Amino acid sequence: MGYKALCLGLSCILLAYHVYRPIPEGIEEPWKVQILDASVKMLSLLALLVENVGIMKFEELYVTLSSMTSIRPSSDENTTVIDTDLGDIPVRLYLPTRTSGDRRPAVIYLHGGAFVMGSSRLSVYDFLNRDTASVVGAVVVSVDYRLAPQHQFPVPLEDCLSAVKFFLQDRVLREFGVDPARVCVAGDSSGGLLAAQVVQALKSDPEFADKIKAQALIYPGLQLLDTLTPSYVEYQHGPILPRDVLIKLVCLYVTKDQALPRAMLKNQHLPRSSHHLLKFINWSVFLPEKYKKNHVYTEPVTGMLNASYFSLVLPTLPLLANDSVLQSLPLTYVLTCQHDLLRDDGLIFVTRLRNAGARVAHEHLEDGVHGALAFTLFPFRLQIGHRIKDKYIHWLKENL
Ligand SMILES: *[C@@H]1O[C@H](CO)[C@@H](O)[C@H](O)[C@H]1NC(C)=O
Ligand SMILES: *[C@@H]1O[C@H](CO)[C@@H](O)[C@H](O)[C@H]1NC(C)=O
Ligand SMILES: *[C@@H]1O[C@H](CO)[C@@H](O)[C@H](O)[C@H]1NC(C)=O
Ligand SMILES: *[C@@H]1O[C@H](CO)[C@@H](O)[C@H](O)[C@H]1NC(C)=O
Repeated sequence: MGYKALCLGLSCILLAYHVYRPIPEGIEEPWKVQILDASVKMLSLLALLVENVGIMKFEELYVTLSSMTSIRPSSDENTTVIDTDLGDIPVRLYLPTRTSGDRRPAVIYLHGGAFVMGSSRLSVYDFLNRDTASVVGAVVVSVDYRLAPQHQFPVPLEDCLSAVKFFLQDRVLREFGVDPARVCVAGDSSGGLLAAQVVQALKSDPEFADKIKAQALIYPGLQLLDTLTPSYVEYQHGPILPRDVLIKLVCLYVTKDQALPRAMLKNQHLPRSSHHLLKFINWSVFLPEKYKKNHVYTEPVTGMLNASYFSLVLPTLPLLANDSVLQSLPLTYVLTCQHDLLRDDGLIFVTRLRNAGARVAHEHLEDGVHGALAFTLFPFRLQIGHRIKDKYIHWLKENL
């Protein structure tokens, strides 16, 4: 009995030691973030456990838990909400109640979730998109693209592209009363990457080249080449999104081969043929001085992993485009958070866009944490999540 109690006690201490990380200084509601962070770490331990015991895959636990917050479409006095298809892609549509015959702007929203989880139906995304429709007076199209690992690259991207192209047809825009000159593509985290990829792909298609007015990217991940930028190093243990979990999930986007996440953890996952692309994401060149601190640039090692899993993704990554492509991009809004391992992806993109002469609006939240938009509702309600949502919506209202 005493022995069992001792074991239990020791396990608890070990577990607490493993999940407890001091929260960085200057974060609002630190104890809430602390609890959330510990819960997320417990979740990743649990996910590893269920995977090893053979109950379900690592990612399935995340998917199962997040989909528990799915809600049905429900209209209110300001917005009609319906689930429908655009072409054959499922979407949730938010149509603001019309007060005049004027045509209105539109936002196509691509949710985050590391390409393996998330949905337009999750309560937090419903809340965000409903507010966007109501405050901006915009038609919002929240796209349910298919997810990895069942549907790997390029399926999620192609789903987003076909939904956007379907929506941009004159007949469809007219049906929803949308002004064709005021369409924005937006997304958070991996959805931010999808949004930027969609916008870049449309640019190279003569039929659609000038049909997007703006892109809005909220703490986007924009490159998968260097996983040891200063922010990746400083925030490798979170809060909220640790580096090993991100890598484990994101790799499923291209393969189930475990050699990829192992190589990516060491920053040695790139094919030799991609070496010439590293100059586009060299943080020692593009990161503002204050974020470099005493970090020393080391090049990601190429040619170690024989299988070149990322070769097909690389040409679609916005951060690997040359300056003439960047310069042609529409007005771009980037919101970055300080306490976020993807912070430098956004910061490098902002520098590169500015250097190329593109129009870019940048907001940086010194007390921001990655994924805060997923914590705007009871029982995980963070002020910072609400501030990010309000800043994004405010920007749309002023610029779309
Ligand atoms: C509808 O819009 C009004 C005015 O902006 C706002 O006060 C109200 O809270 C909105 N209703 C809902 C359900 O969002
Ligand atoms: C990155 O930039 C540094 C200078 O800051 C340079 O020495 C290095 O060669 C660059 N590496 C790549 C791959 O561009
Ligand atoms: C890669 O392939 C080469 C030649 O096929 C082989 O000699 C080498 O051991 C492989 N490297 C790894 C890391 O598998
Ligand atoms: C930039 O990239 C585009 C698309 O890949 C290519 O067509 C163009 O020639 C490149 N421009 C320069 C200056 O390298």
